[in-house]
Amino acid sequence: MTDAQSFYGRWAQVYDWLASAPGVASWRDRTADALALAPGDNVVEMGCGTGTNVPHLRERVGPSGRVVGIDVTREMLERAREQSARTGESVHYVQADAARPPVREADAVLATFVAGIFEDPAAAVDAWCDSVVPGGRVALLNFQRSPSALAAPLNLAFEGFVRLSAPGTRLSRRSHASAFERRVAAARERLTERTVDRRYDTFAGGFLGLLSGTVT
Ligand SMILES: C[S@@+](CC[C@H](N)C(=O)[O-])C[C@H]1O[C@@H](n2cnc3c(N)ncnc32)[C@H](O)[C@@H]1O
Repeated sequence: MTDAQSFYGRWAQVYDWLASAPGVASWRDRTADALALAPGDNVVEMGCGTGTNVPHLRERVGPSGRVVGIDVTREMLERAREQSARTGESVHYVQADAARPPVREADAVLATFVAGIFEDPAAAVDAWCDSVVPGGRVALLNFQRSPSALAAPLNLAFEGFVRLSAPGTRLSRRSHASAFERRVAAARERLTERTVDRRYDTFAGGFLGLLSGTVT
C-alpha cells in the first residue's frame, strides 16, 4: 500500500466533507470550464478522489459522453460511488495508478489537487498528455502560496493545506511545502512544454492556480 492509499483510506470521509464544502463548487466549475468540453466528449479525471468534480464534468459531456474517474484509493472511490450526483450510466470509476493511466484517446484530462503528490510529476503529466487525442485539453488545479501582500498571514496556513492534500512521508518535515511547490512547478512546466493555447488563472485570493492547455 502506498502512502497516499493509507492516508486517503483513513481520511476519505473527512476529505469528502472538505472537498464538497460551500464555495468549492465554484472552483470546480471554473476548472471544468477550462477543459472546453462538448456533449459526447470522453473526459478522464486523474486522482478523482470522492468524485466531487464529476457532476461538473457529467453536466458538460451530457448523456452521450463519458466521465472516467481514476483513483488509487479504494475508500475514496467508495465514497464517490455512494452519491447519486456523482454516479450514472456515463460515469465509470477505476481503481488504478494515475501515473500509468489505463486510458487512451480521451478528449480531455483533469487533475485537481493531485500533481503535488507524485514522485515524478513531469512523468505523470506526460502520461496524461499521452492519454488525450491531439487537440484535447489537460487542466491542472493546485493550491499555491498567494502572491498577494494581503494574503501573507494566510500563507502560514499553506503548510496545513499541503499536508492535507499531499501526504508523503518521503517529504522532510521542514521542507514539506517547498517540496510540494517544486512538484507542482514541475508538473506545470511539463504541461507548458506539451501544450499550446494555454490559460493560467488564479482564484480564491490567489491560493489556487489553474493551468490548462491543448495537446498538440
Ligand atoms: C487531494 S485528493 C484530490 C481528490 C480530487 N481530485 C479533488 O479534487 O477533490 C488526492 C487524490 O489523489 C489520489 N491519488 C494519490 N496518488 C495517486 C495515484 N498514484 N494514482 C491515482 N490516484 C492517486 C488519492 O487517493 C486522492 O483521492
